[in-house]
Amino acid sequence: MELLKETILKKGKVLSGDVLKVGSFLNNQIDVKLLSAMADDVFAHFKDKKVTKVLTVEASGIAFACFIAERFSCDAVFAKKSMTTNVDGETFCADCYSFTHKTANKLIVPKEYLSEKDVVLVADDFLANGQAVNALISIIKDAGAELCGVAIAIEKGFQCGGDALRNRGVDIYSLAVIDEMNAGGIKFRA
Ligand code: G4P
Repeated sequence: MELLKETILKKGKVLSGDVLKVGSFLNNQIDVKLLSAMADDVFAHFKDKKVTKVLTVEASGIAFACFIAERFSCDAVFAKKSMTTNVDGETFCADCYSFTHKTANKLIVPKEYLSEKDVVLVADDFLANGQAVNALISIIKDAGAELCGVAIAIEKGFQCGGDALRNRGVDIYSLAVIDEMNAGGIKFRA
């Protein structure tokens, strides 16, 4: 998506450790006009699917997931990374190791928010090694729900999560795929 790519080039900052800082429009401060346009683009790709839930992970995926869910007139659900006192009842859980943050998390979704009747679109701000998306897919499977695809704002194509999922037949729709990034610049996949 050209507008997202232009914004990444204008406002993104490549940090050490293969990390792209996008705090000014996606991760910390949210550019709502941009996210709205991103959601339109995702909706155009998945419009024929009867999406009933958009599933993401706290925290940075939530805004993107909410804009998309609004387009499908459905709810957005986010997996929590820890049990909190406001979660009760049975839960779906999956392990998720973050190579970026070097932390092991458990993703947790209360069973009451996903069922075998749901057609689920996974959404997240970043796709790197695919740990988070794989954990969400395993939760969807446990719920007996249908996965209809995955919408990603920024895929780091030089890490292999996205291509591994495509090879398994998952419809991964990424609005910007970065194939190379370093202090000298950012190269997008055509
Ligand atoms: P993976 O899920 O694809 O394997 O990715 P990884 O474990 O490496 O990334 C984990 C977290 O780091 C995710 O956030 C992801 O969105 C974020 N992330 C990965 N690469 C980048 C990057 O280059 N820039 C930025 N800004 N974030 C990146 P999270 O665990 O969901 O945490 P949160 O940031 O949403 O709280």
